Amino acid sequence: MSDTEKPATRRGFLAGVAGAAAAAGISGAHADNAKNLPPNVADWTRQLGEGVGTRPYGQPSKFEKDAVRRTVPWLTATPESSVSFTPLHALDGIITPNGLCFERHHGGIAEVDPADYRLMLHGLVDKPLIFTLDDLKRLPRVNKIYFLECAANSGMEWRGAQLNGAQYTHGMVHCVQYTGVPLKLLLEQAGVKPGAKWVMAEGGDAAAMNRSIPLAKALDDCIVAYRMNGEMLRPEQGYPARLVVPGWEGNVWVKWLRRLKLGDAPWFAREETSKYTDLMPDGRARRFTYVMDAKSVVTSPSPQAPLRGKGFTVISGLAWSGRGKIARVDVSLDGGRNWRAARIDGLVLDKACVRFYAETDWNGEELLLQSRAIDETGYVQPSKTELRKIRGVNSVYHNNGIQTWLVKPDGEVENVEVS
Ligand code: MTE
Ligand code: CO
Repeated sequence: MSDTEKPATRRGFLAGVAGAAAAAGISGAHADNAKNLPPNVADWTRQLGEGVGTRPYGQPSKFEKDAVRRTVPWLTATPESSVSFTPLHALDGIITPNGLCFERHHGGIAEVDPADYRLMLHGLVDKPLIFTLDDLKRLPRVNKIYFLECAANSGMEWRGAQLNGAQYTHGMVHCVQYTGVPLKLLLEQAGVKPGAKWVMAEGGDAAAMNRSIPLAKALDDCIVAYRMNGEMLRPEQGYPARLVVPGWEGNVWVKWLRRLKLGDAPWFAREETSKYTDLMPDGRARRFTYVMDAKSVVTSPSPQAPLRGKGFTVISGLAWSGRGKIARVDVSLDGGRNWRAARIDGLVLDKACVRFYAETDWNGEELLLQSRAIDETGYVQPSKTELRKIRGVNSVYHNNGIQTWLVKPDGEVENVEVS
């Protein structure tokens, strides 16, 4: 896909992207080369392979060109304040590979020299502290798998089906294993003064993005993380250290973390007043809506991963909840009239993605494919109609309505809505 193409219409553009991908054979099978097929001996067996050491940092197979982050050029004014999307349709399991985690920056990717990195902790504390990266690494650490979802994920879909691909409708989510220091440890070292109720986290990027977080959450499960999936954080994800705020909207997971200040009231920063608040139908706005409610999406089939033939078909997707574990995921083939429980496979962790499957024998009939997440608190992911009844259509953030994919007889898939 060319990210510089000028779309005629939003729908037309993304339909065009899917079509071009299919024409290039990106998501389909390559044309068979008969001389590589049994009983012949294939090319790759007739010659020595590349030696070790030529790829100091490994890359995916050159045939896996579809599994890349993508942008939507018209979505934002500049690439420095923009978003790229996780290719959910091209992944399986629950862990997002580091190079495919969606990115959201308000002031570009800061390039922080770890030798010059400092984290300040001050405000209502007994002893203000400054930590180097080595200081952080010397402290006891934990490993935790969490999802991170941008509050604006699915934000384009409030007024109707818009973007044709799970990557675009739901790709502002990733799930990785973080290694870092519990924030509680740092706060204990500084000594929290009586009266402290809030923590302000500030980034060291050009946006100096900051958010207010209740002290109770900071003392509960927040982490100052410096590793993701074993290796050091990627620059895009806040190298060398970011705040991990499990289950809460991605915006509070401050990257390139440079400062934590304790206070007795929230700071009412830009990102919690003019942005990241939810405009309700009566004109008032909900604020500090931190928790990401349960949500799910079928990642395959989906517009970028169409069905290639009738018969045995694996339907697959992701579900997550900011309130705890996912208890169940239901799948519907008929737009929500009938539901059946999907099979969850692999780890089911607190505030992490789960992978679900529903196998079916597809006879080529049209399907209205949906998934619905239920978390351990009993919360059920709402339909878009139910969600709009309460929230209206003025919101950008926190759209966790049930997604519908129309699977057509030729296997192509389209983003639609059912009422
Ligand atoms: N932290 C800083 N310093 N600057 C930013 O622009 N973007 C926030 C958050 N933390 C941002 C930031 C937003 S809106 C989201 S959704 C997440 O980072 C995205 O994290 P990711 O880029 O690792 O996916
Ligand atoms: Co965000």
